Amino acid sequence: MSLSNTVIAEPRRTPSSKLTELHDRLMETRRLSLALADPLSDEDQVVQANDDASPTKWHLAHTTWFFEAFLLKRLLPGYRLFDETYEYCFNSYYEAVGPRHPRPKRGLLTRPTAADVRAYRAHVDEALVQMFAGDMPSDAAEIIELGINHEQQHQELLLTDILSLFSAGPLKPAYRKAKPGVSVQNAAPLAWSSFDGGIFEVGHDGKGFAYDNEDPRHEALIRPFKLANRCVTNAEWIDFIEDGGYATASLWLADGWNTIQGQEWQGPLYFEEADGGYMQMSLLGHRPVDPAAPVTHVSYFEADAFARWAGCRLPSEFEWEVAAADLPVAGRDLGADHLRPLPANADDGLTQMFGDVWEWTASAYLPYPGFKPAPGAVGEYNGKFMCNQFVLKGGSCATPAGHIRRTYRNFFYPHQRWQFTGLRLAADA
Ligand code: AVJ
Ligand code: FE
Repeated sequence: MSLSNTVIAEPRRTPSSKLTELHDRLMETRRLSLALADPLSDEDQVVQANDDASPTKWHLAHTTWFFEAFLLKRLLPGYRLFDETYEYCFNSYYEAVGPRHPRPKRGLLTRPTAADVRAYRAHVDEALVQMFAGDMPSDAAEIIELGINHEQQHQELLLTDILSLFSAGPLKPAYRKAKPGVSVQNAAPLAWSSFDGGIFEVGHDGKGFAYDNEDPRHEALIRPFKLANRCVTNAEWIDFIEDGGYATASLWLADGWNTIQGQEWQGPLYFEEADGGYMQMSLLGHRPVDPAAPVTHVSYFEADAFARWAGCRLPSEFEWEVAAADLPVAGRDLGADHLRPLPANADDGLTQMFGDVWEWTASAYLPYPGFKPAPGAVGEYNGKFMCNQFVLKGGSCATPAGHIRRTYRNFFYPHQRWQFTGLRLAADA
């Protein structure tokens, strides 16, 4: 064997410029979580307002535990667990990792305290920095990327969970003051963009990070369709209410009708009738409903009924993705810092596809053909939830900057509405 033919196997390392970028993004993400908790007292951070929501303190700890369980414990030699009891407290749903505190009882975790959780975060952050300073194992970067995206999802949940909590108390506090200088706006008039049918590639194209549920990229058959230029507004939703939408069984799916009857829903979550108008609890406090802003905090059942009332339907996730193909991935997300959805600008074509509100689609949250969950415990991240939920697209005013993609598939059960969920109408062409 001549030396010139010998291929010396290089250890598979992420190049250092990429590692620097990853390190900075990781630390920025870790900092943002703490910044989001900043306006909150320690008491605010303990309480859980409903079974779907989690206390702020739990979000801060669980996102930290994620790095400990899937990265540091496995890949940082000599890593010392901050506290052995935390795995039980802060494992969310990973059966492969072990038993855990039940989700509906997360609000009973007065211990560990908020201060303990902050110390936990500092301990793990220090270990993460140490990991970057040493020889990074080859599969660390991938888990860190997942950990960043995971923490970003919990940043959005932290905000929607705090809104749920603040709406439940008598004082209806604002999480924060409204950003100054936002003028009152009208919504762009409703208009339609038409799209040809055909066979289109959908799903992640392999560039940059994506969750496993965006793979494999595959072909989808789409018929000619049209899509509204903007999301449904509060004014349009009030027309639906006042036209008896919530009292007309023929507009509703059976499960939806049962839900609104059982829950006595007569409007979106946080809507309240007051002096012939409507008020709504928001992260900026208790405020009059902005008629031009997109409706938010509606369930799939309500979105579906509204679309039927309007003589339209919800778009499929693939119609949405194809329609967004050439649009910049930009909108009013958490980075825009409004903390509420704002009216669509009167631009031509599709507006508001990204940011403001998550858009319910008519697509069941199912595996793409050939889907394989990631090996190991992180394989539980998305795949095991592919039953009885619907896909939402586009991100919201609470989605962290840089987190959203065209192929992103958020998912919730059809009755859930405490996220910033809205809709855009579609129709057959
Ligand atoms: C995609 C928002 C439904 O809330 O469980 C958080 C996000 N996944 N930790 C959820 C998530 C793992 C997920 N949703
Ligand atoms: Fe999680």
